[in-house]
Amino acid sequence: MCGSLCQRSSLTDTRAPMTLILAIETSCDETAAAVVEGGWIVRSNVVATQAAMHAKYGGVFPEVASRMHVETITPVIREAMEQAPAAWDDLSAVAATYGPGLPGSLLVGLSAAKGIAFGRGLPLIGVNHLEGHVYSHWLKIEDDAVSGNGLKFPLLILIVSGGHTELILMRDHLKYERLGATLDDAAGEAFDKVARLLALGYPGGPAIERVAASGDPTRFEFAMPKVDREFAFSFSGVKTAVLRAVQAYGETDGRGSVPARAPVPDLAASFQRAVVHQLVEKAVEAADRYGATEILLGGGVSANAALREAMQRRAHVPVRWPPLWLCTDNAAMIGAAAHYRFEAGQRDGWDLDIAPNLKLE
Ligand code: KG4
Ligand code: ZN
Repeated sequence: MCGSLCQRSSLTDTRAPMTLILAIETSCDETAAAVVEGGWIVRSNVVATQAAMHAKYGGVFPEVASRMHVETITPVIREAMEQAPAAWDDLSAVAATYGPGLPGSLLVGLSAAKGIAFGRGLPLIGVNHLEGHVYSHWLKIEDDAVSGNGLKFPLLILIVSGGHTELILMRDHLKYERLGATLDDAAGEAFDKVARLLALGYPGGPAIERVAASGDPTRFEFAMPKVDREFAFSFSGVKTAVLRAVQAYGETDGRGSVPARAPVPDLAASFQRAVVHQLVEKAVEAADRYGATEILLGGGVSANAALREAMQRRAHVPVRWPPLWLCTDNAAMIGAAAHYRFEAGQRDGWDLDIAPNLKLE
């Protein structure tokens, strides 16, 4: 039980007393609450996913999402407090994601956090969801491993999820420079749309990755898009190229029926290769340019093994990604980010509003 844990505790020893933060995350389709100690120990991490419900619609249905958050938020918070275990009086603060995300969904989590903070006389801390993905790298993971151990700034961070594709240069704690983002679809959104096109179901990323495993990634050449801004991404072109390729085999309605002769594994593998290529080329170029010590991946798409492998192969610096339970949306990462904000003195007022289009910069 020593090794990396001991190194880490020498860092945390300078911070007294240890913070204990209840964090709430409801920006999209996961209702999540966690209790995080000292910014790195996950005392509890409860996630109620709505994925099965949204699968019926082939994507997240905002009205349904906010209604489900309302139904689940109280039991999820209670469970996080019980599992920790923590009493209200033990808490240093209550944190919640206030953006970016779906307005109705964000409102549920932020309102719950305000209610608890107000009722218990605790500080309220609003957290940017993307900053949460960044700080997932500073959490203690299984056994005695701490993912953030030894991280040195500047760091190059690639956040790839259903709603975001962001290339961020992090020069210090809480200091970000947004180098680029997607000009159209997010990377995960492209996976989801192409999966629907190939009748593979929702969420699309894992389905494409599974099918692509038996496909030929070089069968279709989906060209790298030309974008004016150096570190910007674009995925709508490759999505349209896949549609055209499918149409060459017969009629398709673009969402659920694929011509019988269409080579779905080859299409999936070629699409995945094109998306991965774009992400890797830009991230590696940016890491080299800004002298990043490491490349950190975050967000749901960083679960993709082809992305991880290609990034590791091409990068000139180490590449890290969080374990799967921290790649996808969760509240532990919000608690980690909130710790650094708390230590920096951030305290939000009761007038803190949701910010559905919040940026990280
Ligand atoms: O971070 P996340 O859980 O939620 C958002 O904030 O969006 O990311 C979900 C996204 C979905 O678009 C899903 O298709 C994608 O991550 N995803 C993947 C994989 N697993 C999840 N994309 C590619 N390969 C995967 N293995
Ligand atoms: Zn996310």
